[in-house]
Amino acid sequence: MCGIVGYIGKRESLPVLLEGLKRLEYRGYDSAGVAVINKENEIISFKKAGKVKELENEFDKDQLTGNIGIGHTRWATHGEPNDRNAHPHFDEGSNIFLVHNGIIENYLSIKKKLLQEGFTFSTDTDTEILTNLVEFHFRHTNDFEVAVRLALTEVEGTYGIACICKAEADKIIVARMGSPLMFGVGIDETIVSSDAAAIVNYTKNVIYLEDGEFAVIRKGGFQLKTIRDENIIREAQTIEYDLAEIEKGGYEHFMLKEICEQPESIQNTFRGRINFDTGFVKLGGIEPVREKLLSAKRFIITACGTAWHAGLVGEYMFERYCRVPTEVEYASEFRYRQPIIDKDDVVFIISQSGETADSLAALKEAKRLGATTVGVVNVVGSSIAREVDAGTYIHAGPEIGVASTKAFTSQLMSLALLTLMIAQSKGTIRDSELKEILSELKVLPDKMNQIIEKQKEFEFVAEEFKDSRNFLYLGRGFNFPVALEGALKLKEISYIHAEGYPAAEMKHGPIALIDENMPVVFIAPKDSTYDKIISNIEEIKARKGKIITIANEGDEDIRRYSDYVLHVPRTAPIFAPILNSIPLQFLSYFMAVARGCNVDQPRNLAKSVTVE
Ligand code: F6R
Repeated sequence: MCGIVGYIGKRESLPVLLEGLKRLEYRGYDSAGVAVINKENEIISFKKAGKVKELENEFDKDQLTGNIGIGHTRWATHGEPNDRNAHPHFDEGSNIFLVHNGIIENYLSIKKKLLQEGFTFSTDTDTEILTNLVEFHFRHTNDFEVAVRLALTEVEGTYGIACICKAEADKIIVARMGSPLMFGVGIDETIVSSDAAAIVNYTKNVIYLEDGEFAVIRKGGFQLKTIRDENIIREAQTIEYDLAEIEKGGYEHFMLKEICEQPESIQNTFRGRINFDTGFVKLGGIEPVREKLLSAKRFIITACGTAWHAGLVGEYMFERYCRVPTEVEYASEFRYRQPIIDKDDVVFIISQSGETADSLAALKEAKRLGATTVGVVNVVGSSIAREVDAGTYIHAGPEIGVASTKAFTSQLMSLALLTLMIAQSKGTIRDSELKEILSELKVLPDKMNQIIEKQKEFEFVAEEFKDSRNFLYLGRGFNFPVALEGALKLKEISYIHAEGYPAAEMKHGPIALIDENMPVVFIAPKDSTYDKIISNIEEIKARKGKIITIANEGDEDIRRYSDYVLHVPRTAPIFAPILNSIPLQFLSYFMAVARGCNVDQPRNLAKSVTVE
């Protein structure tokens, strides 16, 4: 999500750090910072909310001279994006400076221990706690390398880190667990980064760290080890990509990258929030309004576009498992229709960007009317995230493609977590059902990967239908909003007209559109609506419509009714929309590519709609 860069070698480090940070800004861009070791072995650091350009205005270049340094561009996960929370973080005595990508899950328990030891904290970040933990071990061992190693054996979660130490000012230590980290080995210099984009201008020889490994890098070379202190010998690999390809991780478009990233982004959404042994679901950001949530008479979900579709799935989840009456409103309608709201209502605002003007205005209206407001937001510190009474971040990472994909599935996951937390506390879900859902959750990322591996099948079907002028998407229950989302994805990036409907509603009008030129996508998982949806498929077949079915693995029978079947693994109903969305994202993507459309920046659209 965020970007790390480091330099040690013969040049001035600052220009290398700044250039690297600019190259990494596409990954995260809410604040940036650098720390450089000068000739007197002091560490000088500057950090600033905003883009790298704003950081550059903070200092004169001659304030930051020296051949060793680290830098960071941040996409906030803990604490809003301001100067204080920007990286590098450092301990009170300014001995250890550290930059970090990832999430330290057990930061609260570590903080408690460090507070007892007399450590103090001045930011809201998990990274500051890790920095102080390294300093804690340094004070006991007087050995930077050992201190980093001991600290890393204590933390749970994910990290890519680079850190420097005033008392041992000749090295950078880097480490990785679940968050990419690599270093380029040039002639008399080493460039550290979370992403090859910051390295390729200097060298193409790169060492990639694996999980559980760290490296001590000095001017004369490096030592690679496991955090258990076992030595590792690894040859550098030669990277062949050009810069543009690297930013997209080798994918042709950001949208494709983001579709394929979903097994990882979904894990980031639920990571550290569920105790799989006890079944306990905890969303820290919701705690301030927990009692309000449990006693609410009614939930209202408001959002726009794709986020509104997530809200519709949320309605099914909340009513089925929490037994709380739920309404879903377009934010743009909500704010103007004088809604009847009172203090016992909880209003959820779902937004990827956290800046959508209509959603923000709906939130303000809900607050004015006295409701409790809860955000389900991706961008940390965004306007909606700051304005709500409480909230849960979806942690999908930066979404750059204009068509929302990974944010949608992470919104669904966040709503599922909220549902489970509320249902568990209210006792409206059976233990056995909760257990089943959680065991499905564990394997969900693998099941998402299985779908992603079938890209060629989706591409084939997309090619067959790329010249269609219209599409219908039909689903029932949890999958009706998935049909709406599938249709929206197709419209926005391939400019093919598409409509989504509840499958049974079709015979009340849209069926008049069906002829041999009309492709109809059915979402037909083996759930309680299956037999009914088969009847709906037959109604289309009788009128010669072309049928593409999203069905469960093992359902071969459905081929009798369908022209094309795209299989996805079976899962719990609450997660079915997550899996079923993926083939629809691929269909729209491949159709848009086949039609020569600008996938990442479709005409007339903007990533964040900050006007009414
Ligand atoms: C569609 C899409 C839009 C957004 C909508 C709300 O792919 O991205 O429909 O979902 O503009 O945006 P956020 O979630 O940022 O409030």
